[in-house]
Amino acid sequence: MHWVMGAHKKILVTGAAGFIGYHVCHQLLQQGKQVVGIDNLSDYYDVVLKENRILRLKKSPQFLFQKLDLSHRPSIEYLFQNHDIQQVIHLGAQAGVRYSIQNPHIYVESNVVGFLNILEGCRHSRVEHLVFASSSSVYGNNRDMPFRVSQNVDHPVSLYAATKKSNELMAHTYSHLYNLPITGLRFFTVYGPWGRPDMAPFLFASSIFHEQPIKVFNYGDMKRDFTYVDDIVEGVIQVLDHLPKPIFSFDHQVKTLTPGCSNVPYRIYNIGNNKPVDLMEFIEVLEQAIGKKAKKNFCQCSLVMSKKHLLTLAIFIKRLVLRLKLRSKSAFLNS
Ligand SMILES: NC(=O)c1ccc[n+]([C@@H]2O[C@H](COP(=O)([O-])OP(=O)(O)OC[C@H]3O[C@@H](n4cnc5c(N)ncnc54)[C@H](O)[C@@H]3O)[C@@H](O)[C@H]2O)c1
Repeated sequence: MHWVMGAHKKILVTGAAGFIGYHVCHQLLQQGKQVVGIDNLSDYYDVVLKENRILRLKKSPQFLFQKLDLSHRPSIEYLFQNHDIQQVIHLGAQAGVRYSIQNPHIYVESNVVGFLNILEGCRHSRVEHLVFASSSSVYGNNRDMPFRVSQNVDHPVSLYAATKKSNELMAHTYSHLYNLPITGLRFFTVYGPWGRPDMAPFLFASSIFHEQPIKVFNYGDMKRDFTYVDDIVEGVIQVLDHLPKPIFSFDHQVKTLTPGCSNVPYRIYNIGNNKPVDLMEFIEVLEQAIGKKAKKNFCQCSLVMSKKHLLTLAIFIKRLVLRLKLRSKSAFLNS
């Protein structure tokens, strides 16, 4: 089945008021694209920050914002019926690993029910390509570094990760059933301007500024892969125009499928910087930039799952770099 593309592509970006969504919308608008952005402006973190991102995007006449909840089926159906949407970048989600311990239901509502509504919209509107955000957290209890998309990811250690893994499975199903081209991108810790206040760079910086102690898990003996948001944006936008192709022709007998690709138009990629930064080095850079010493509380991890989550997040992005010639221009230390 071939789907027809319109001359003026309208791109739906979910989570447009979020950190990555804002940057993706901004770049698309710079390229002259028409963007419909949706977000429910959830109060998981400062809503004013989200409103300000939207205010900046609204300066472009090519941008239309609608406050919508992904989990509200009639609203999402109406959205797809009333806009001629050719491509979808799905970034809207309840993010955060720890928050899912106290608030499990919101993860299933936003990330699973919400994703189903987006899949249904894409299916009925015959969207050309759906690109969605998955997460490095799907690697869960895997110990085999660097992480590769060919690895089994059946051992998540947070509900957040489980919802992202569910998204990948649901996406494959829709790709198979409706020949819907879908690409999932597993992001590794993303940082940059207009970033999320619940994430390490902002939490640590805030504590150093206010001379409050910071918790240094695993006594500082850990590394983490940080990706500059511009690199994520570049990856997302490049991927959008590269439709995933089935890896086997239809007359070929499929014997073995690796988890990251398929005989349907579906792909999963890791997308990151591939330069894990030592936690202590990360703190030193913040200290230098802020001009204050951090008060460090060295400790083991307090949560069973955080121990794994904070361990080395080395990644394998070779496939993506080769395919898209993605410039890996960021390194936390150079920023
Ligand atoms: N930032 C990272 O380091 C990172 C790492 C891995 C994966 N991701 C994924 O990338 C995507 C974007 O992350 P981000 O860092 O920009 O997070 P973010 O929280 O800043 O953005 C997500 C946006 O989705 C919106 N949202 C949440 N639930 C919604 C719902 N039910 N309906 C409509 N909108 C809803 C929120 O209001 C928010 O503005 C998410 O899917 C996240 O899981 C991010």
